[in-house]
Amino acid sequence: MNLNIAVLPGDGIGPEVTKQAVKALTAIASEYNHNFKFTVADVGAIAIDKHGDALPDETLELCKNTDAILFGAIGDPKYDNDPSAKVRPEQGLLKLRKEMGLFANIRPVKAYQTLLDKSPLKKHIIEGTDISIYRELTGGIYFGEKQLSEDGNTASDLCTYSREEIERIARLAFVAAQNRDHRLTLVDKANVLESSRLWRKVVKELAEEYPDVKLDFLFVDNAAMQMILNPKQFDVILTENMFGDIISDEASVIGGSIGLLASASVGDKYAMFEPIHGSYPQAANKGIANPIASILSAAMLLSHFGLHNEAELIRLAVEKSLKLNITTPDINAENDTVTTTNVGDFIEDFIFNPKDTNL
Ligand code: IPM
Ligand code: MN
Repeated sequence: MNLNIAVLPGDGIGPEVTKQAVKALTAIASEYNHNFKFTVADVGAIAIDKHGDALPDETLELCKNTDAILFGAIGDPKYDNDPSAKVRPEQGLLKLRKEMGLFANIRPVKAYQTLLDKSPLKKHIIEGTDISIYRELTGGIYFGEKQLSEDGNTASDLCTYSREEIERIARLAFVAAQNRDHRLTLVDKANVLESSRLWRKVVKELAEEYPDVKLDFLFVDNAAMQMILNPKQFDVILTENMFGDIISDEASVIGGSIGLLASASVGDKYAMFEPIHGSYPQAANKGIANPIASILSAAMLLSHFGLHNEAELIRLAVEKSLKLNITTPDINAENDTVTTTNVGDFIEDFIFNPKDTNL
């Protein structure tokens, strides 16, 4: 298969982890005779420094002319504590999601058998967890009208959703549930928010078209508690933009490290693959960043194009690295000698020579 892939490494640890994902994809291309062409472009703080724009036109143009985007991370502390900053790295990512129509962000969360002891949560609580979070990505409070009063003392962010915006992601979530354990939970705050009540109404109506899916509802505050009390109860979670942002960071604790969680952001036309973690600037260039989230995002990219065996091989390689404890210090605190590159090298070697596929 021929694939043109735009690589947007971004800020902080983004470039280091993305490099390992590209390495894994390159190995896959060579093993399976695919032709993957990678083109690198700037986004985020680095793009602001170089071009004065978090998403330069050339980058957006490139993304619109490729088959898929591999995204690293975005953000720089120099903007975080400056409320008056006019340009922010995050704007690059948000604009990219919006312009490319990437309305569904899919975040798989699972407890790896070999990492059960690494989570601060008790083993019997997390064992067997396998959740797919469907987070709406181009609407809600992230994109509603923003206002700051002239005296600077009142601010607001509007949370708006239309039926169409809810329906298109809900359909994807229902289909995902049909292909999994047939359970879908809508997370909202329908006891308070009008927008949540619309979500409930629309999703309830759609449920009639998917009679084999058992639909239930949870208020987001309760969902946050249930996520660590009994995560096994969830199969597919569907939720709006900001609730999904928060719930998925919380869910990452189940896997033992946020450095493991990959995601796919898809729309009608384009698809982007990115770790859920941020740019972790304190760790940049130290060789301690976990590349697994980025490598697993590359596996999601392969699955997206129907390359399931290839994706599975990457996942096997990852499981093997975890089993053998070839992991960065976020997981392997006792042994901090394994670097980002070591993990990437192991995955690459495994792809070329899958020794033990019988995990
Ligand atoms: C994420 C991130 C982004 C978000 C930030 C960087 C804008 O936290 O992808 O979860 O809030 O969506
Ligand atoms: Mn987030």
